[in-house]
Amino acid sequence: MTQAAFALSRYNVGLASETDFAGWRDAARELALADVSPADVAWTVAEGTSGVFPPPHATRTSPLQVPRDFVRRVETVICHADPQRFTFLYRMLRRLSMEPHLLKIASDQEVRRFETMEKSVGRDLHKMRAFVRFRKIGNGEDARYVAWFEPQHFILERNAPFFVNRFTGMKWRILTPYASADWDGERLVLGQGTSRDAAPADDDAEELWRTYFSNIFNPARLKVKAMQAEMPKKYWRNLPEASLIPGLVAGADKAAKDMIARMPTTPAPHHAKVQARHWPVRPPAKPDMGENAASIPALRNAARDCRACPLWRDATQTVFGEGPADASVVFVGEQPGDQEDIAGKPFVGPAGKVFDQVLEEAGVDRDEVYVTNAVKHFKFEPRGKRRIHSKPNAGEIQVCNGWLTKELKLIEPELAVALGATAAQSLLGKAVPVTKMRGQVIERDDGLRVFITIHPSFLLRIREKADAAAERERFLGDMKAVKELMAAG
Ligand code: URA
Repeated sequence: MTQAAFALSRYNVGLASETDFAGWRDAARELALADVSPADVAWTVAEGTSGVFPPPHATRTSPLQVPRDFVRRVETVICHADPQRFTFLYRMLRRLSMEPHLLKIASDQEVRRFETMEKSVGRDLHKMRAFVRFRKIGNGEDARYVAWFEPQHFILERNAPFFVNRFTGMKWRILTPYASADWDGERLVLGQGTSRDAAPADDDAEELWRTYFSNIFNPARLKVKAMQAEMPKKYWRNLPEASLIPGLVAGADKAAKDMIARMPTTPAPHHAKVQARHWPVRPPAKPDMGENAASIPALRNAARDCRACPLWRDATQTVFGEGPADASVVFVGEQPGDQEDIAGKPFVGPAGKVFDQVLEEAGVDRDEVYVTNAVKHFKFEPRGKRRIHSKPNAGEIQVCNGWLTKELKLIEPELAVALGATAAQSLLGKAVPVTKMRGQVIERDDGLRVFITIHPSFLLRIREKADAAAERERFLGDMKAVKELMAAG
């Protein structure tokens, strides 16, 4: 209120502080009972002042009644930074004394303003609880924790009891531009505001906090807009972790991808039981990759305990290759699927069914060929109760190649058939464009010929009936070509 307005008003009210709810309530009641118009009152905050001057004479004979809920809510709204709030709240009080249901009229402009102010203060209270960071000064008995915070509204007094409860055993001080709160472990003292320089800038604990924050930061969850709404930039500079935020936000996309690549898969609950049946003994820390295995059964046995990559953790068991140890052709798939993981056998699920049918039509006897996978453990992501197939990454393919290489060494086939990109990558040691090279035979340095084709699960993903039939026909053609290569020896 300006000096001129102060001088022109018939009544002057002094409030002890910006949040002097009791002072406002008593003055408002006195003024309302005297039927004083809000326009005739000047409200001033000045330490040491209180009361209405000149004292108004009550003209109302009936007691002043306003909903209790309103009075309770005023305790929050009075913390709003709007300098007109005392006048506005007094006007609301007068209206409510005549219209007790006023607060239920959502279309009323003043009710809306009241609600908006209440929400804004509520948000600020919440933000302060979330973003105040104490910095330690002194040690031992003299240790004090000091925080600097810049609230949007006058909320320190209202929030101080929260901090007393939360940090009762700690001696702390919260400084803001308009007031300060000091807790010595026994008494809470509210004092003057100060400038930011009065608060310490850093302490040892901050490095720890920053490390913690960058570790818990989940880039895949990052929504910059939501984050800025929740933690507006103006709060950032007072947070120790704030210096990390721009870097973490900028690197979030890459970090999200890396995180996904690293992410362990988690087993469905019943798998712990199944797994326990298959892993009764704790495996050695350094897994045997079948170095000494002299036969396929010995190699299969060694692979049971494979821990060379983390995929074993969530899979039920190792799914090793199957077929005659002297097969002339080895078919290599990607990795076991859900059903293969449970059965412990390759290609027994939906893709395996298509594979079997096409092989039969092509005249290839599955019992005469060896069927295995580039990766021997099922990699998946849990989604509800389902386990969704997840593609093995280059590292997993490379590590598991140890088993495939040993299988091929022991079997010595004339031909290996790469079913899809993962198999081709494992067999040829590099990524291969399968659709482009499909039907080709590549000879490796060790003389093994590799026939490239698609993975049978591709046929299951085609929605259009006609396209699916055409692709199946092409795959049949590939298998017939394999049959011919087998016959040619
Ligand atoms: N897909 C594969 O690549 N291998 C299997 O064993 C099953 C599905």
